[in-house]
Amino acid sequence: MPALDTTKSWQDLSAHAGRIENMHLRDEFASDPDRAQRFTFEAAGLVADLSKNRITDETLKLLGGLARERCVEDWRDRMFKGERINITENRSVLHIALRNCEDRPIIVDGVNVMDGVDAVLKKMMVFCHQIRSGEWMGYDGRPMTDIVNIGIGGSDLGPVMVTEALKPYAHKRIKTHFISNVDGTHAAEILKPLNPATTLFIIASKTFTTQETIANAMTARDWFLAKAPNQQAVARHFVALSTNTKAVAEFGIDTDNMFEFWDWVGGRYSLWSAIGLSIALTIGFEDFENLLEGAFDMDEHFRLAPLESNLPVLLALLGVWNANLQGCTAHAVLPYDQYLHRLPAYLQQLDMESNGKGVTLDGVACAWQTGPIIFGEPGTNGQHSFHQLIHQGTRKISCDFILPAISHNPLGEHHLMLMANALAQTQALMLGKNEAEVRAELKPGDEALLTHKMFSGNRPTTTIAMKQLTPSTLGALIALYEHKVFVQGIIWGVNSFDQWGVELGKQLAKPILAELKAGKPGDAQDASTKALMARLLAWRKEP
Ligand code: F6P
Repeated sequence: MPALDTTKSWQDLSAHAGRIENMHLRDEFASDPDRAQRFTFEAAGLVADLSKNRITDETLKLLGGLARERCVEDWRDRMFKGERINITENRSVLHIALRNCEDRPIIVDGVNVMDGVDAVLKKMMVFCHQIRSGEWMGYDGRPMTDIVNIGIGGSDLGPVMVTEALKPYAHKRIKTHFISNVDGTHAAEILKPLNPATTLFIIASKTFTTQETIANAMTARDWFLAKAPNQQAVARHFVALSTNTKAVAEFGIDTDNMFEFWDWVGGRYSLWSAIGLSIALTIGFEDFENLLEGAFDMDEHFRLAPLESNLPVLLALLGVWNANLQGCTAHAVLPYDQYLHRLPAYLQQLDMESNGKGVTLDGVACAWQTGPIIFGEPGTNGQHSFHQLIHQGTRKISCDFILPAISHNPLGEHHLMLMANALAQTQALMLGKNEAEVRAELKPGDEALLTHKMFSGNRPTTTIAMKQLTPSTLGALIALYEHKVFVQGIIWGVNSFDQWGVELGKQLAKPILAELKAGKPGDAQDASTKALMARLLAWRKEP
């Protein structure tokens, strides 16, 4: 693929960005009563208002041209067909198969992957029924009350985010917990209140070799066996989610209790697979299917809608526009729904592990910015923390405001207050407050405060609204972001589906761990690491 900055559409867009440099959103809204309507798009129960971004009709037209020149439709179709578009790992990218609710055949190496997908879903359904009904009992004959998912990265963040987001749908008897960090504190604090006789452990790891997960799984097994009557009890209390049958068996989990998935499911795209077992056990299989169906609706929209009204494509192009041509240095995800409090953390992995890349598919260094820094907090907490910088800081930050109309907890006027705050934030970021407006409010003698109280406005926000946060709308929202990230990767020319950048740290941790165990830093360590190791080891020896 040609370098992004050498393409005609990129050069046209850069020239256009220069032409509208002085445009202010306040003026655009004042002069164009149809602006909001023209720049609002809908799909799969989600409404996205892009109008508070610094865009014009011409911008969207040129961005559409960019998508065409970068062959977005072709890449999208190749993904849906199961081609090996993850070229550095020689793998297909088929999370869409996991929620292919119409069972359209998807053939990889002559095999219809849907057969395996359907079989695992069926196994999950049966297991969900057994656990939730209480039919599946622990070693002393009682039903499970607690589920502990042990995994990290994609084997943790998706399930954590979704089980938190869909708490109103959770089973009353079952509490779901997550252990991810190798810090023993995480396991210790989660296990402390639990009763092994009524706890089910789910060991979730695509590779089943991840150091943190295996260490936590061994700790959980030791904790369990300290109370369980015998080794056989493990079969009632430990299940595995993995692509690695051999390693699961070696760990000591009966492979009958293993829920399989495949190498064409990327870790950060895996919550729809067996990795979602903790979700299905928590909210029930029917609502898990509703989650899949919501995602499927978005997949169908992404697959079939023209680029000009294709929501994931539009969000992706807008993100590229803001990051590469409008100088935005980060992107904030601001869910105005407490249940979505882990969405920013989930999207950090989805976006930053996917597009945090410095070379193109051809291995050539990118001369343009790629994946943005993603951060966020649920509204209104963020308003009393980092929104100050978004309003008046020297860095430009684009934002997504995510806003359901109906709360699951209709307490007094809380939800109206929440919505009012979200809308007011996007309005303030758009309008700003100019000199005349500040002067009109300044008390005599307060002239020195003038510039402190001024807001430039003109700061880009997108509002994604929905009627209510349900399994279906959540599925659509996650799929929206997944496809957005994919399209951005295509535009930037990077592989969104590998993650070589996490390897070096893992590699270097091995000799450091060996030396820490031996109580002496190795001579090969750099001076800084060596000194730190020596100090930490010395402290550990002190009484
Ligand atoms: O952090 C790297 C990574 O490979 C992620 O991509 C993945 O989600 C995570 O580790 C966990 O991997 P696994 O599911 O194989 O334990």
